[in-house]
Amino acid sequence: MNQTSTAGKPYRRLLLTGAAGNLGRQLRAPLAQWADVVRLSNVAPLDDAAKHEEISAVDLADGEAVMRLVEGVDAIVHLGGISIDAPFDDLIESNIRGTYNIYEAARRHGVKRVVFASSNHAICFHPVTEVLDADAPQRPDSLYGVTKCFGESLSRYYFDRFGIETVCLRIGSSFEELKNPRMLVTFLSYRDFIELVRCSLFTNRVWHTVVYGASDNPVKWWDNTKASFLGFNPQDSSAQFDGLFSDARADRRSRRPRAAFPGRTVRAGRADGKEALIAGRVAFFSGKGWARQGLSGEKVTRMLPVA
Ligand SMILES: NC(=O)c1ccc[n+]([C@@H]2O[C@H](COP(=O)([O-])OP(=O)(O)OC[C@H]3O[C@@H](n4cnc5c(N)ncnc54)[C@H](O)[C@@H]3O)[C@@H](O)[C@H]2O)c1
Repeated sequence: MNQTSTAGKPYRRLLLTGAAGNLGRQLRAPLAQWADVVRLSNVAPLDDAAKHEEISAVDLADGEAVMRLVEGVDAIVHLGGISIDAPFDDLIESNIRGTYNIYEAARRHGVKRVVFASSNHAICFHPVTEVLDADAPQRPDSLYGVTKCFGESLSRYYFDRFGIETVCLRIGSSFEELKNPRMLVTFLSYRDFIELVRCSLFTNRVWHTVVYGASDNPVKWWDNTKASFLGFNPQDSSAQFDGLFSDARADRRSRRPRAAFPGRTVRAGRADGKEALIAGRVAFFSGKGWARQGLSGEKVTRMLPVA
C-alpha cells in the first residue's frame, strides 16, 4: 500500500475504471474516504466531478490514453469492461486489450496494486456439487468468462514478472435486484462488495490472490479460506430475500441447486430462460424449473450456467 497521502487518507490517488457502471457508482462515495484524489474513468459519460475527483473519459482499448490515465496513481480498481457475454470482437477490445493496457500502464508508471473485477463466470462450468476454492481450475462458461480468465492470468504474469500485486474478485451477482433463484446463492450485496474492495486495497500484502465475492448466503458454492488473510467477512445474506421467488418449486430449487445436475431427471416446465445442456441439447431454466418441450424424463448430462 502506498501511504503518501498528505491529508491522512491511506492513498494519495486512486484510479477507478468502469466508474459509470453499476458497481463503479457504489464505490464513488467510499473511495473519497480512502484517497485524497479519486480519478474516475469510463467510456460512457460520468456525472460531474466532486472536489476530490478527476474525471477522465477513456476507452480502455486506447493504449496511449490508458497510459496517460494511469500516470500518477497509487493503485487501480479495475471494473471497466463489458460485463456480460458479447461478440468476441467487442470483448477483445474492452476486456482483453483494455485489461492489458491497464497492466502495461501500471508497470510503466510503477503502480504496485490492482483490484481486478473478475467474475464467477471464470469458473462457472464446475458442477455446483463441488465447493470451489481459489485453486479450482478455471472453467469459463462463456467468451466473457474467458476474458476474465485472461485477466486473472495476465495479472498473475504481472505479479510474477514485475511484482504488481492483484486481488482478482470473482464477483457473484451484485445488482440492485435479484433476477433469478440462482442469485440467492451468488448474491453479493453492495455493502459487502465495497468491503471486499476495501480489504483488497488495505491488506498490507496481497501478492496474487483470488477471492470469491459472495455475501454470507445460506447456500455456498465457494470457499474463501485461502484468501482469509484479506479479512473479508461479509455482513449481508440473501436470506433477506426469502420468499422473493415465491413459486414454491423455484424456491426449493434455489436452495437445492443440485436438482439440475448430471444424472438428475428433468421435469417439464416453462422454457423462457437458457441454462442447461441436456442430452446434448440446450434446455432452459425458467425460474420455475428445468425444462424443454418434450424433455421431461431425460437425464441431465451437463450444466450450463445461469446468467
Ligand atoms: N455486478 C456483478 O454482479 C458482476 C459480477 C461479476 C463480475 N462483474 C464485473 O465487475 C465489473 C463491474 O460490473 P458492473 O456490474 O458495474 O458492470 P457495468 O456494465 O455496469 O459497468 C462496466 C462499465 O465499464 C464501462 N466500459 C465498458 N467497456 C469499456 C471500455 N472499452 N472502456 C472504458 N469503459 C468501458 C461501461 O461503460 C460500464 O460503465 C465488470 O468488469 C464486470 O464484468 C460484475
